[in-house]
Amino acid sequence: MENIRILIIEDNEDLSFTIENVLKKSKYKVKRVSTGEEGISIIKKELIDLVLLDINLPKMNGIKVLRNIKEINPDILVIMMTAITDAKPAIDAMKIGAYDYLMKPFELDELKIVVKKALETHELKREVDRLKRQHEIDHPTNKIFGDSQYLQKIREIIAIIASTPRTSVLILGESGTGKELVANAIHYSSARKDGPFIKINCSAIPDNLIESELFGHEKGAFTDAKNMKKGLFELANGGTLFLDELSSMKLSLQPKILRVLETQSFRRIGGVNDINIDVRVIAATNQDLAELVKNGEFRDDLYYRLKVMEITIPPLRERKEDIDILKKIFLDQYNKEFNKSIKGFAPETDNLIYNYSWPGNVRELKNVIERAVILCNDEMLLPEHMPLELKELNTDIPASQSPGLGMVSLEDAEKHHILNVLELVNGNKSKAARVLKISRSTLREKLKNYQAE
Ligand SMILES: Nc1ncnc2c1ncn2[C@@H]1O[C@H](COP(=O)(O)OP(=O)(O)OP(=O)(O)O)[C@@H](O)[C@H]1O
Ligand SMILES: [Mg+2]
Repeated sequence: MENIRILIIEDNEDLSFTIENVLKKSKYKVKRVSTGEEGISIIKKELIDLVLLDINLPKMNGIKVLRNIKEINPDILVIMMTAITDAKPAIDAMKIGAYDYLMKPFELDELKIVVKKALETHELKREVDRLKRQHEIDHPTNKIFGDSQYLQKIREIIAIIASTPRTSVLILGESGTGKELVANAIHYSSARKDGPFIKINCSAIPDNLIESELFGHEKGAFTDAKNMKKGLFELANGGTLFLDELSSMKLSLQPKILRVLETQSFRRIGGVNDINIDVRVIAATNQDLAELVKNGEFRDDLYYRLKVMEITIPPLRERKEDIDILKKIFLDQYNKEFNKSIKGFAPETDNLIYNYSWPGNVRELKNVIERAVILCNDEMLLPEHMPLELKELNTDIPASQSPGLGMVSLEDAEKHHILNVLELVNGNKSKAARVLKISRSTLREKLKNYQAE
């Protein structure tokens, strides 16, 4: 608690002096002022953790000051001080966001305890937030799986970027390739991991709102601006701002983004002061940005600025070696989620999955497996649990890979035939056994062996 800064706003000089002394003895850094106006100007300029605020102040009263403080920084702890004869405003203050109140006259020990408790609770809350975030990072749904050379390279780049906390990053890749996952990984493995990670999808917000969303606005900046509003750049201070679908940001706004990247400062709409921030920007898009630049639909200066650190995630069909681990991970996840214990993929299902082109990339694979797990009441995921598009004739499978055609062993031909029949009867094992003229248990046995292969 050594570096805690406390501000006393109290017009009674004697009381304020006494409080200052007590708190200084407890090793807090203390400042004191006698009016709300002075207090607010300090809070605007300096970092304050806790305010002891008198309710009955000359000119601007304590409730008004509290409102102002909460607007400037809602994280500041405020403890109200009020005369015992006048408890109502103290209760109002709690509703506006004061942490606690002290009734005058109070014992100095009581003051120390209330301050200490407030700071401890605050600290605890931050610790809980930190643990929650840690838990999220460790959660399997936030891990990047895949051992293709591409993903190995991407992991290396993420590690490098993580150690350069200011560099902006551009993530490119088709829809569903894992751009958001990579952005998450960058933030949570960087020195900014305890700071905020704020996301905005530029294509989901109407053009006319996005600017005030990003930069905030001053009170009265336009007709609807009844209060000051912080923008996302400000909220992301100390952390990372993820601009998703950046390509859909209108051209006129792009120079303003570039300016923030270059100066690490911005202005609220209607504001006159530059506000300094410390934010890393990560942008992502599934569009071909270079092409958009060529056509004049995206500004080249912003593109080149972002391109300094670029990560391109190849489509899944170009890194098929990742499919194997991904499908197993997703099966695991959905087994848990739906309380099932499906053991794996029947060989024919494996073929379907491998040979499909996955236009929706990893997201599509994930969805297909989720659906299959829901549908499946067998030990294995069978072709019948796969959606139609995977079964549509895939012309790019070479004949040699397709068992049962040409030079294959009797065993493989049998396997192929059995799986074929199974598919024709929509996975109904009794029916398949009848068609094949074997017993149901023999069929089960054979299927189990295929899985073990
Ligand atoms: N390598 C991977 N390992 C594990 N899960 C992955 C991987 N890549 C993607 N995913 C999962 O696939 C889904 C889609 O990923 P994500 O949302 O990051 O894609 P995106 O590129 O941002 O897509 P879009 O362009 O549509 O926004 C998510 O559920 C994500 O967790
Ligand atoms: Mg995305």
